[in-house]
Amino acid sequence: MIFITGGAGFIGSNFILDYLSAHNEHVLNIDKLTYAGNPFNLSSLDNDARYHFVQADIADRETIAALFAQHRPRAILHFAAESHVDRSIHSPGEFIHTNVNGSFTLLEVARHYWCDLPPVEKESFRFLHVSTDEVYGTLGPSDPPFSETTPYAPNSPYSASKAASDHLVRAYHHTYGLPTLTTNCSNNYGPYHFPEKLIPLVILNALDGKPLPIYGDGRQIRDWLFVSDHCTAIREVLARGTPGETYNIGGWNEKTNLEVVHTLCDILDRLKPKTAGSYRDQIAFVQDRPGHDRRYAIDARKLERELGWKPAETFESGIAKTVRWYLDNPQWVLNVRSGGYLKWLELQYGRKENT
Ligand code: NAD
Ligand code: DAU
Repeated sequence: MIFITGGAGFIGSNFILDYLSAHNEHVLNIDKLTYAGNPFNLSSLDNDARYHFVQADIADRETIAALFAQHRPRAILHFAAESHVDRSIHSPGEFIHTNVNGSFTLLEVARHYWCDLPPVEKESFRFLHVSTDEVYGTLGPSDPPFSETTPYAPNSPYSASKAASDHLVRAYHHTYGLPTLTTNCSNNYGPYHFPEKLIPLVILNALDGKPLPIYGDGRQIRDWLFVSDHCTAIREVLARGTPGETYNIGGWNEKTNLEVVHTLCDILDRLKPKTAGSYRDQIAFVQDRPGHDRRYAIDARKLERELGWKPAETFESGIAKTVRWYLDNPQWVLNVRSGGYLKWLELQYGRKENT
């Protein structure tokens, strides 16, 4: 069996679906089901005997230790996190709880479990920590992309909490020999993406006739990776990565936010034309995110060189599939836009004035 933390979230649920389509192994999903956790993402596995779910907080040491003792996993893949930068600006406390204390708890429990394993299982056990490119800070327009040796310089409470967890993972390998793997990935997009993040927010606001909020001048750059490519990369790292190493994962798709939003509007104009005008007419420039990082870009050559991984999707193919998925899944959209989601929109966008 493998353990997945945060498997009801965007990337975790894509990963579980991807993993079970390729491997015949039991998976235990440990998820607290915060606002971002959505069991509907995995409803296609309702009758799959290989899938198991426990609702638990990763910072609850007793419960996590009991799960290790009961199921004796061969690996743990740690996706669970508070993941939204804007929420970390409003309320950083939860980010410290989950991303720092929760990751620490998992490492401690995994270390004790691993220490007592027989030699063969001890050798093959893996703790795979899923992290982000945001730990490296921000790039200037002509800086080289982030590599695995770029110094850490996190700028938001979110990225600082992820950087703290990366350092703990590194220390547990260096000090105790725990066979860890760390992946630092760029911006994901695709099915099941919670609509607080730019791409799903813009698709759904566009269809609702609402403003498409662009922070600041919209010229910030992100490096977009289709989520199924991220899943493939993680599978490769789990199978063949070297313990103690980190691997950067990126899509080689640097785009400004304006380019992304224009692309989404143009696809929707084709697939779901408005009675008059273009979805671009709904674009609204709003107050910038405090401390907003200007540019992220990932150098993913280590992963390609050592493990032969390359993304399969281009931005054009991935974004077309993504828009199609949101149009084809109105029930999923309805379910995630609960009262809690509406309160978030009010807090984040209610007071922002157009510039
Ligand atoms: P998400 O917010 O969609 O999902 C997070 C999941 O973790 C949810 O199911 C939530 O219920 C669960 N969770 C939160 N706190 C928990 C706790 N204390 N105990 C147990 N479960 C808890 O996040 P995501 O976008 O799927 O990101 C997954 C991981 O990938 C995160 O570690 C994130 O930092 C990293 N990452 C995300 C991106 C991206 O673009 N989304 C890019 C790079 C790295
Ligand atoms: O780089 C990896 C990171 O990507 C992950 O570690 C995070 O978990 C994930 O949330 C994502 O962070 P970003 O802050 O880059 O994603 P977000 O979708 O929130 O924003 C993408 C860009 O769009 C960013 O420059 C901010 C901007 N933006 C975002 C929103 C929500 C807007 O202009 N308007 C918006 O309404």
